[in-house]
Amino acid sequence: MAGPSFEAVPQLDLAAQYASIGGEIRTAVERVMASQQFVLGGEGVALEEEIAKLSGVSHGVGLASGTDALILSLRACGVQAGDEVLLPPFTFVATGSAVSALGAKPVFVDIRPDTYNMDASELERRVTSRTRAIVVVHLYGLAADMDPIMAFAKAHKLPVIEDNAQAIGASYKGRPTGSIGDAACISFYPTKNLGAYGDAGMVVTNSPQIAERVRTLRNHGQTAKYLSTEPGWNSRLDEMQAAILRVKLRHLSDWQRARQSNAAEYTRLLNHIPGVMPPITPDGFEHVFHQYTIRVERRDALQQFLSARKIGNTVYYPHPLHLQPLYASLGHKPGDFPHAERAAQEVLSLPMYPELRKEQIARVVDAIAEFLKC
Ligand SMILES: Cc1ncc(COP(=O)(O)O)c(C=O)c1O
Repeated sequence: MAGPSFEAVPQLDLAAQYASIGGEIRTAVERVMASQQFVLGGEGVALEEEIAKLSGVSHGVGLASGTDALILSLRACGVQAGDEVLLPPFTFVATGSAVSALGAKPVFVDIRPDTYNMDASELERRVTSRTRAIVVVHLYGLAADMDPIMAFAKAHKLPVIEDNAQAIGASYKGRPTGSIGDAACISFYPTKNLGAYGDAGMVVTNSPQIAERVRTLRNHGQTAKYLSTEPGWNSRLDEMQAAILRVKLRHLSDWQRARQSNAAEYTRLLNHIPGVMPPITPDGFEHVFHQYTIRVERRDALQQFLSARKIGNTVYYPHPLHLQPLYASLGHKPGDFPHAERAAQEVLSLPMYPELRKEQIARVVDAIAEFLKC
């Protein structure tokens, strides 16, 4: 006998997006093909200006990935081997590995249990005389509480880098994320709210010095043609990705509104279900819902239940950085960062994309309600 059949609800549906913008994308790609300019050309320069404007800053420097944006901006802020950098342990591994790539040491600062972002009140006990920078992550599309972090950074004369990989378009007390710290990193990884058709990233900043240094570092440390003043990288943005991103940027605010409306619908329905904690948006913050992430106690069992019903779901992230094998040498143990550890056991991200339909959201919520009655 055949089992029950379920209409799948994917975690993300990029094919639906391509169905609506495919014509514009193909025109843009054709333009790049006709120009036969593929790296560091007019499309990239235009994208840098457009993303800087969206981020409320004066400079953008296009790069090959968001990870490179973190590495190069840390380097541009003077971080080098032996330095310590403060960052949250509850993030994608790139936030930490960018620090490690420079030979610097990640020093973790626990998160707040309600927003999953860095808890500024934890900074004081983690700072040392070797601390050289702070990396703040705006996880899932919600800004970290920046005012106390910036006040701490100012008091300790530390640069702040915003890891804005997941929160392009978000804002904090009226200021766009990416405009608050000394520099910010954007990822255009395909699944991001503004995703390329491959890897790409950008550093945005108000500092002409940081912008210039990142420009030099992305191209082998060259300050003039074939004249290098320091070791650098090859992390140049390619024209095809820039042209595609410029098309998608025109749709970003509509897509953002659709994500916010989908999130409101999820929250409206989930508020009736005890045992589920929907994401919060503190007053004065604009959340862009890169992920819609709930918290439940029996998370692993719920995951299996949803997967069996073909409902997309993902844990971002199951292993906090301090417990990753990568960082075993730092000597951390369970219990060191309790809020990050508990979040890693309880969070679950539900299907979220602009084209998600109300009846799909209802199906996801019905399944969660059914599970919690078990
Ligand atoms: C929080 C965070 N930081 C950094 C990155 C790295 O970006 P990329 O994948 O473009 O290198 C990502 C995304 O993958 C991310 O989600």
